[in-house]
Amino acid sequence: MRNCQINPSILSADFTNLERELHRIHTADAVHVDVMDNHFVPNLTIGLPVVKRLGEVSDLPLDVHLMINDVDRWGPDYARAGAASVTFHAEASAAPIKLARDLRSAGARASMALRPATPIEPYLDMLPELDMVLLMTVEPGFGGQAFLDIVLPKIRRARRAIDGTGLPIALQVDGGVTSETILRAAEAGADVFVAGSSVYGTEDPAAAVVTLRNLAAQ
Ligand code: DX5
Ligand code: ZN
Repeated sequence: MRNCQINPSILSADFTNLERELHRIHTADAVHVDVMDNHFVPNLTIGLPVVKRLGEVSDLPLDVHLMINDVDRWGPDYARAGAASVTFHAEASAAPIKLARDLRSAGARASMALRPATPIEPYLDMLPELDMVLLMTVEPGFGGQAFLDIVLPKIRRARRAIDGTGLPIALQVDGGVTSETILRAAEAGADVFVAGSSVYGTEDPAAAVVTLRNLAAQ
C-alpha cells in the first residue's frame, strides 16, 4: 500500500480569513497554494507577500503551485519565502533543469507540473532533478472543474517511469479530485492528491481530508 497524502487547495477557501481556513484542514499533509498571474492562466490569485505570511502562520508545509509565466525568475523566491515544495509548469519554463536545481539550492523540494495535454515523455530524463511531478487533471486556472479521465494513462506511464528511477519522487494530481475520482487516480499510481472544492465545499474539511486519504489508501 502506498503512503498517500492529501493537500487541500486554499483556492476554494475563504480568502478573507486564510489563517482560520488553515486550521480547518489540520488533518492535511500540506496546504496547496495556487499562485496565478492572469497570463499563464486566465485567473489571478496571490503572490509572494501572502505566501510568505502563510508560511509564517501555517503549521502545515506549503505546497506552492506556480501557474505563472517568468517562472525561471520568480520560482526560487517562493522557495526562499518558506515553501516546502515549489511546483513550476514545464510549459512556462525556458530552463526547467536549471530551475529545478535553483529550487533545491533555495531549500525547497523541486516539482514540475504538466497541463493535461502535455506529454511526460520529453521530460523523463530529468526525473532525477525532481522531488515531485504534478499531473494536472483539469486545465489549470479554476477550482471546481471535472476530473479529466483522459489523463489516467499518463499517470500510469509517469508511475512506471518514477518506479524505474528507484528515487522517492512523489506523483501529485490536481483538479477534480473527489471521493469518487480519487480511487481512479490512486489506482493509476498517484500518491499526492490536491483537493479544493471537495474539501472546503464540505461542512467539515478536516473530516473530508481523512475520508479522502482512507479512500486513496485502499
Ligand atoms: C486549479 C488549481 C487547483 C484547484 C483544484 O488550476 O491548480 O489546485 O484548486 O480545485 P478542485 O479540487 O476544486 O478541482
Ligand atoms: Zn493547484
